[in-house]
Amino acid sequence: MTVLFPKWTNKLPAILALGAASAGLFVVFVVSFWFSPKHTDVGYQPYQPIAYSHKLHAGTLGMDCRYCHRLVETGPHATVPDADTCMGCHAQVKKESPMLEPLRTAYGNGKGDNPAIAWTKVHLLPDYAYFNHAVHINAQIGCTSCHGRVDEMEIVRQVETLSMGWCLTCHRDPTPHIRPAGVSVTKMDWVADEVSIAAAKKKLEWQGDAKPELNPPTYCSACHR
Ligand code: HEC
Ligand code: HEC
Ligand code: HEC
Ligand code: HEC
Ligand code: HEC
Repeated sequence: MTVLFPKWTNKLPAILALGAASAGLFVVFVVSFWFSPKHTDVGYQPYQPIAYSHKLHAGTLGMDCRYCHRLVETGPHATVPDADTCMGCHAQVKKESPMLEPLRTAYGNGKGDNPAIAWTKVHLLPDYAYFNHAVHINAQIGCTSCHGRVDEMEIVRQVETLSMGWCLTCHRDPTPHIRPAGVSVTKMDWVADEVSIAAAKKKLEWQGDAKPELNPPTYCSACHR
């Protein structure tokens, strides 16, 4: 009779298990080592193709964040404005400024195929982590909880690690970040107090048979889909 499985195959499950274990470790290593890009570091503050200042526009001029980051309340991405948004003012204001030359080029000189302004991304999660702005904004979490005082920044800088531990710390207790209904998510100087924390706590609790209003997930597949 032919031997279908020679004797060494008895060890196969063990060999496979060992292989799988080291492959698993390797994946974790690769993911944690190479996939932690430098630009997710606190303090990352790249120069931009136009010296656009949040301190001037959002701070001094008092423009609302949503005037430019239009999809922040309705979509996963906040989005960065196109040249048309800027030209709404800069077709009149400072229209000769050399600082705005790249803006005028991007806006169009009748050719219709002008390149967009190549803003450098500041905050960037790895592809394997899922994040949605609208969900967080609708939970009444303000921009400052995650981005700091952007209205005081001449050049945008990352102020939080955006690490998994950072996400989870808030998901386990978001109460200091949840604003009362009347307070805008774009109000920059809001701070939590005992009343707001107590109200937030209520939103996270079961009310009899009714599910909590807010339910930040901590299971893996919520963020790794
Ligand atoms: C007049 C338009 C405008 C307004 C108003 C504005 N922004 Fe921006 N924002 C931009 C542009 C353009 C960029 C891309 C260039 C840069 O990073 O400075 C940007 C970038 C950002 C970034 C970094 C994006 C990235 O690449 O990670 C954050 C965070 C941000 N804005 C938050 C805010 C907040 C918070 C407010 C309100 C306080 C605000 N912005 C108001 C135009 C605007
Ligand atoms: C709960 C945390 C959190 C809050 C609140 C938050 N952001 Fe963000 N924001 C992030 C993260 C994380 C990223 C990176 C997302 C990515 O790489 O997919 C980001 C990226 C951005 C970007 C870059 C473009 C994009 O969508 O990736 C802009 C602009 C921005 N945020 C603006 C805002 C503004 C304006 C507000 C308030 C109205 C706000 N964010 C509130 C966490 C937050
Ligand atoms: C609501 C009107 C408005 C919008 C929209 C606007 N700006 Fe401005 N911007 C101003 C005003 C006002 C000044 C200050 C002019 C002054 O100093 O007299 C200014 C100044 C500037 C300056 C400095 C120019 C210089 O020569 O000193 C830059 C650069 C600039 N804006 C870029 C942008 C960009 C890029 C956008 C779009 C993301 C934008 N602005 C959108 C009103 C606006
Ligand atoms: C400042 C507090 C805070 C931070 C920081 C935060 N979250 Fe959340 N997150 C919440 C709250 C509160 C909810 C619950 C919203 C609800 O139940 O409507 C939530 C819900 C979610 C959900 C479930 C809803 C959905 O979009 O499917 C995901 C996924 C999520 N967060 C991902 C992240 C990731 C990824 C990060 C880090 C990059 C992060 N969050 C950082 C407070 C936070
Ligand atoms: C609230 C959102 C969230 C939840 C829940 C979550 N993760 Fe993550 N995870 C992230 C984010 C964001 C990153 C990217 C961190 C970075 O870029 O530094 C990440 C990174 C990772 C990494 C890469 C290594 C590292 O630390 O950078 C692994 C592995 C991982 N997560 C596994 C898990 C497992 C297993 C679970 C369930 C026990 C889980 N995650 C639950 C958001 C989450």
